[in-house]
Amino acid sequence: MTNDETDAPWWQRGTIYQIYPRSFQDSDGDGIGDLAGIEARLDHVATLGVDAIWLSPIFPSPMADFGYDVADYVGIAPMFGDLAAFDRLLAAVHARGLKLLLDFVPNHSSDQHPWFQASRSSRSDPRRDWYIWRDPGPDGGPPNNWISDFGGSAWEWDAATGQYYLHAFLKEQPDLNWRNPALRAAMLDAMRFWFDRGVDGFRIDVLWHIVKAEGFPDNPVNPDWHPGITERDRLLQRHSTDQPEAHAIAAEMRALADGYGDRVLVGEIFLPNDRHARWYGTPDTPEVHLPFNFQLVENAWDAAVLRRVIADYEASLPAFGWPNWVFGSHDAPRIAARIGEAQARVAAMLLLTLRGTPTLYQGDELGIGEVPIPPDRVRDPQDLRQPGLGIGRDRSRTPMPWDASPFAGFSTTEPWLPLNPDWRTRNVAAQDRDPTAMLQLYRDLLRLRRAQSPLSVGTMSLLDAPDGVLVYARAHGDARLRILLNLTAQDAIVDWHGTPLLSTLEGPSVPGLLRANEGLIIA
Ligand code: GLC
Ligand code: MG
Repeated sequence: MTNDETDAPWWQRGTIYQIYPRSFQDSDGDGIGDLAGIEARLDHVATLGVDAIWLSPIFPSPMADFGYDVADYVGIAPMFGDLAAFDRLLAAVHARGLKLLLDFVPNHSSDQHPWFQASRSSRSDPRRDWYIWRDPGPDGGPPNNWISDFGGSAWEWDAATGQYYLHAFLKEQPDLNWRNPALRAAMLDAMRFWFDRGVDGFRIDVLWHIVKAEGFPDNPVNPDWHPGITERDRLLQRHSTDQPEAHAIAAEMRALADGYGDRVLVGEIFLPNDRHARWYGTPDTPEVHLPFNFQLVENAWDAAVLRRVIADYEASLPAFGWPNWVFGSHDAPRIAARIGEAQARVAAMLLLTLRGTPTLYQGDELGIGEVPIPPDRVRDPQDLRQPGLGIGRDRSRTPMPWDASPFAGFSTTEPWLPLNPDWRTRNVAAQDRDPTAMLQLYRDLLRLRRAQSPLSVGTMSLLDAPDGVLVYARAHGDARLRILLNLTAQDAIVDWHGTPLLSTLEGPSVPGLLRANEGLIIA
């Protein structure tokens, strides 16, 4: 699909930057980031060269899952600020020509949400059916075999009313019942509340979970499960996720967003390509603009694997569907921890030159790598419930290191999670002065992406390449660029000529050769 530069909407041309609010900047000395802190650090986001910010949840929450347990969909958690602070942040973001996306969590609320408090108060409460209540199964145990994504049964017994409620995640995160029209209307009203305030869109949490199969049949056993992977994977989530009825809801959310003009919906959806692509909807009944594509996170860092992943994903897209790519998040391991810093530079070039909207995760622009979390500092509930699997998410949620002052300029006190061990040298101020730093590479890539329409809106074709090397062309109008990525630590013979625009390495690039760990953009 070709897109004229001038008519491509901002969310196709642009780049999204994810901020994890607890860990961006603390302004009030409690060791936890907040909205005023984000506002104070907008220069960094603007000079980086991204187009939009997505904020992980900032709503009132007991923080059992660090904000993904929402106790009020139309407020701000006091630790982050208040609505006035939010309005100031939004205005400051817009004043810099940036967009702001919030994180909407529709599958479940907090068990402290007044709706759930009402729902659990009695079987006859008008809000009973806003959540998913079932009688015990025939053996007196849970209604079916479903497993929570964080381990254990997905059902919690409520002695007061003598029924179980469903929770796909923690028991403190009861699943909402989207089959109930009143709940549905209340949730759409919450989206409207933020659209009316001026937000430019939402990232929608676990969107493919929001409707469950009628009758709640048992999920089938996963024949590939083995000890050492999460308990969730014992079963295939056939009946608990990706139900046909959920698409009508996504379409309803989209219609609401479209009513406000140039807004965007990004859906968190983990599914194989064919089912993933359905979340774009159809041209007549569109659903989310960008079903998040996590395949760079999920697949090995290997040229042959990625070539196939890119080709298969591109082939799976509907004609009107715009691609997107993600390399890091508050859930995924850090890229630099996975593949090392030299290859993380190549990964940055891949992410920012593929066809489709990239989402960057805060701190990856500094190349933050593995952050050891001492056992007494572990906060991630998923890790605490299933220790020893190496699935901890705290390692990607550590505070942004801003400078070499105490607590890295993040806070005036010990932060809620440890800093990266190399924060004294790996921080924004240090990298700002160092032309060879990862931060400069990200800035250069983002500048080039903005200047070169083939990168932002052009077509893409995969080209032949030697083992360990990924090569593709991006073209728009008369302009054509080639991207050559050496995914190995050995030099590779690659026949290229032309003008190098940017390399991941210092020093002159050598025609006919890709140096070890070199990524190259050629005009
Ligand atoms: C999403 C979020 C994750 C959260 C989960 C439950 O996957 O990214 O952080 O724990 O949903 O809301
Ligand atoms: Mg604070």
